[in-house]
Amino acid sequence: MYNQNKIEGIEISTNNKSKRIIELYLKDDFIKKLLFPFKRFDIMALEYKPFTRFTLAKNLDDLTHNKLKKLINTILKDRNTGCFLLKINNENKKIDDSFLVKLSTAITHLIGVPNHDSMSEKYYARFFVKHEDDSDSYLRKAYTNMDLHTDGTYVNQITDWILMTKIEEKNVKGGETTLLHLDDLENLKELSEDPLGRQNFIWGSPKSKKVDYKVEHPVFKKDEKGNINISYIDQFPEPQSIDQGVFLQRLSDALEESDNKIMTELPIGSSVVANNHFWLHGRKPFKVNKNLSRELLRIRGSF
Ligand SMILES: [Fe+2]
Repeated sequence: MYNQNKIEGIEISTNNKSKRIIELYLKDDFIKKLLFPFKRFDIMALEYKPFTRFTLAKNLDDLTHNKLKKLINTILKDRNTGCFLLKINNENKKIDDSFLVKLSTAITHLIGVPNHDSMSEKYYARFFVKHEDDSDSYLRKAYTNMDLHTDGTYVNQITDWILMTKIEEKNVKGGETTLLHLDDLENLKELSEDPLGRQNFIWGSPKSKKVDYKVEHPVFKKDEKGNINISYIDQFPEPQSIDQGVFLQRLSDALEESDNKIMTELPIGSSVVANNHFWLHGRKPFKVNKNLSRELLRIRGSF
């Protein structure tokens, strides 16, 4: 249904692995028109003057005759979809890392307001995944599977959506993005109706996240339309009983064993944007390579 939308300069299609994921391809002539307004601010201006981020968003939407904001918000809030990929021609020499930061900034400010990212102390975070790592979470552990999860489980900010952009990648094999729509989880009914799934859990986080408090919330919650939402990650809940521990183990196994998990290879320069209440994301392990390097950008926020 979304591929019936027409926006000049943007090709709209459905992902070949899942009808729930919409693809938006920004053609080179569209990128060319964005270069001029995007040149007006450097990254420092975007970081120090929050209103400039909205200016970029407005420039982007104006180029689409105000169709893009409407389209991406409809996709993200539609329970049947809730996810889109933003793609560009990564052979286009005009597109560099600053351009990608600006594009991601503009897109997210068409959706809502980003949360402060305590890891980077900015509205966005850029980070590398490399061969060696001494951090304290799975985020930068290249050779470990990053299990399916949602973001923002351990903070008291609302995390309605997430954006991840692949800025750069070298010597990478494996490391595919995994995605799962909650309604495609085979035993969702059984798990979400279990009283343990509606009980408050304690959620903390390791030092690198720089969050010095803990929060309490259940794994499953119903939204105002009666749809089930999930807020879950394997690392951060602190179960207080065998029952709670066993429940989390069952959930973790169900997610990792799901046959409906989608594996996608994101090309350099592309972004995945997903509703964080009913899409889970993760990453496959990379193949070992000493020179492995992937740089990602993330922005998370509320509608
Ligand atoms: Fe995540």
